[in-house]
Amino acid sequence: MTNVTKELADRLIREHSLSLDEYEALLTDRDAETAEYLAAEAVKQRKAVYGTKVFVRGLIEISNRCKNDCLYCGIRLSNGKCNRYRLTEEQILACADEGYRLGLHTVVMQGGEDPYYTDEVLVRIIKGIKAQHPDSAVTLSLGERSRESYKALREAGADRYLLRHETADAEHYRKLHPAEMSFENRMRCLRDLKELGYQTGCGFMVGSPYQTMRALAEDLKFIETFRPEMCGIGPFIPHHETPFAKEPAGSVELTCYLLSIIRLIHPRVLLPATTALGTMHPKGRELGILAGANVLMPNLSPVNVRKQYELYDNKICMGEESAQCMQCLSERIRAIGYEITAERGDYAGE
Ligand code: SAM
Ligand code: FES
Repeated sequence: MTNVTKELADRLIREHSLSLDEYEALLTDRDAETAEYLAAEAVKQRKAVYGTKVFVRGLIEISNRCKNDCLYCGIRLSNGKCNRYRLTEEQILACADEGYRLGLHTVVMQGGEDPYYTDEVLVRIIKGIKAQHPDSAVTLSLGERSRESYKALREAGADRYLLRHETADAEHYRKLHPAEMSFENRMRCLRDLKELGYQTGCGFMVGSPYQTMRALAEDLKFIETFRPEMCGIGPFIPHHETPFAKEPAGSVELTCYLLSIIRLIHPRVLLPATTALGTMHPKGRELGILAGANVLMPNLSPVNVRKQYELYDNKICMGEESAQCMQCLSERIRAIGYEITAERGDYAGE
């Protein structure tokens, strides 16, 4: 650790903010010693808010049909080899029930942008889950929709929404997405979600093609100013049927370093150690928690469709029943001195 990185780290720890140039320097000049220093402080600041609790969210992958063609994503429209599925309302409610039995008091409905899920259909599902489990939180991760749609879903009872901004650099955004998708609309969605009272999650992939340290610094500045309640980051992992098939994957080391920085920017943020991180390293999720993350998202999808929700190659937890996933995660978390809690795990407001 140089005098400069130490000075930057100390200021981040104290003031939770750096300039764009300083974030870039902290990323470019990183070394193992700085990473350790930041992780220790990130853990300390997280413990002051959330203790050693790790919150769990049951992920239901409701559909792999998508009208979009994001260049990095394995379920993009142009992937003709993708075997498509869509869960019925009954299947989704059954997954939510199973999650509840396993102590998961948040369900996350995630999927491609599948026009089948109109507001009417989603309102029915959200109300169905809330009627069966009034003490559970419902999180949606269904991509870009209109403000009116977000409003209707919120009024039906949805509590949270995850929509990664993917990159805060508009030019980088254009290199990752087809011309029909726009950075401006993604940002509009995030603003609408926040204004409508959702606990809102943004986020990005680490090591996505064309990503620079400057772009990552912009992501950090965006997180600092937007102040999301949740933030999902994980390494980019290539999928063999996408234009980025031959691109290198993002690193576990940089992902963990960024998790620590994000924790220090925003000590109260709910920060998952993602499945992508677990895919890149056998202990990836544990490393994420030890760097400052405090959320895990075990898979609740029916086992027979899991393989089809293939965003990237070699995704983990494909064969395990939900109960096995929970068991495995609890043991892993206990082994590093943390404990999984059945609490809803809402954002701890200031
Ligand atoms: N359609 C919704 C959306 O756009 O927000 C939710 C589903 S989308 C598949 C969820 C996230 O998966 C994306 O925001 C993206 O960051 C991540 N993802 C997609 N392809 C990936 C890849 N190849 N490697 C790592 N993460 C990926
Ligand atoms: Fe739509 Fe990935 S392109 S979910």
